[in-house]
Amino acid sequence: MKITKVPCLKGEITIPGDKSISHRSVMLGSIAKGTTEITGFLPGADCLSTISCFQAMGIEIQWEGNRVLVHGKGLRGLKEPKTVLDCGNSGTTTRLISGILAPQNFDVTLTGDASIKKRPMKRIMEPLSQMGAQIISLEGNGCAPLKICGSPLCGIHYLSPVASAQVKSAVLLAGLYAEGETRVTEPYPSRNHSEVMLNQFGAHVQTEGTTVSIVPAQELYGCGVDVPGDISSAAFFLAAGLMVPGSQILIKHVGINPTRDGILKVCQAMGGDITLLNSSSDSGEPAADLLVRHSNLHGTEIGGSLIPALIDELPVLAAMACFAEGETVIRDAAELKVKESNRIHAMVLGLSSMGADITETEDGMVIHGGKPLHGSVIDSFLDHRIAMTFAVAGLCAQGETTILGADCVNISYPGFYQDLMSLAGK
Ligand code: S3P
Repeated sequence: MKITKVPCLKGEITIPGDKSISHRSVMLGSIAKGTTEITGFLPGADCLSTISCFQAMGIEIQWEGNRVLVHGKGLRGLKEPKTVLDCGNSGTTTRLISGILAPQNFDVTLTGDASIKKRPMKRIMEPLSQMGAQIISLEGNGCAPLKICGSPLCGIHYLSPVASAQVKSAVLLAGLYAEGETRVTEPYPSRNHSEVMLNQFGAHVQTEGTTVSIVPAQELYGCGVDVPGDISSAAFFLAAGLMVPGSQILIKHVGINPTRDGILKVCQAMGGDITLLNSSSDSGEPAADLLVRHSNLHGTEIGGSLIPALIDELPVLAAMACFAEGETVIRDAAELKVKESNRIHAMVLGLSSMGADITETEDGMVIHGGKPLHGSVIDSFLDHRIAMTFAVAGLCAQGETTILGADCVNISYPGFYQDLMSLAGK
């Protein structure tokens, strides 16, 4: 993909559905009784991996226009798959499904692409094993492929060393089937979509500070899920709208769950002009239209409890910081190293090659903004968020930016480049 400077971005856009909520709607729909009707489902490759895993376990899932219907078979209705389950590039699929599979009465093997086979799975193997799960890494390296032999589980109180919704959700989903109560305490609250949706489906989940608890469920019941637009995808248009002079973009129906809205807080702290309109909170997940206008940005500090609320937006925030006056420091973000790629390395490499003043640190980056960027050849490391970040940076750089492996945006945002270009009037 080749990107060049644009005069401005103007117009209205509806971005695809939230990835985290889409995954969870299929997972809970599959283990609930009755039909779950999902509107706004994200048809990205990651969520399609989740659909195909549950189809392989006997769940009928169909598309009807823009709705997805999941014909759930109840908590004990999954069937042993005839083949290895392929989670593709999706960490959410691999980790959350492990929590559902550990307590079943059959065995499964989970695998995925080259990136998934390098991502840490010990973080879910440890708590699930404490609950009584039999789960091993077949290569012995703590990564997929994972073999899970279904077995009965007991509730635990897990003190998670990382603020990770995938770890928390894997334990809570296992807790649905365990004997006794299951609790997870995190260093900081991570996204709470599992808790919200589990309660909608009839489970009993409670949150007190950074501790979430669940009691075993007799049954879950299918229901309607309206998936709002993904704030992590909206982030690219927020950044582009703030960075490209003369821009004004209205981004419709974006999820603004408070455990995900760190990007809004940071943009505003950097002097960004973002207005929330038409707020709603149907089905427990708050949403709003976001109106963004070009702004003169200044640097900021990002760390601590804010990090889990904007973890996937840090690459694009790093690009934004290059166009902000002064210093931006990102700290407490070592988790970026174990995402679809090492995102600290990918950002520092790509932005440096465009002329930015950016330094890698142990757990983040330091950026001195205000230096003009020039186009370059960028390795996306086949990481969707890296590719989209550099497409946005390329809009404000002199000359041409070439993104290698640009198709990986299909993981979370099929149609991303078309949407970006349509706002540029191309
Ligand atoms: C996700 C949680 C986050 C996030 C990922 C999606 C989820 O990962 O980065 O894109 O849907 O639960 P961690 O739980 O590893 O922080």
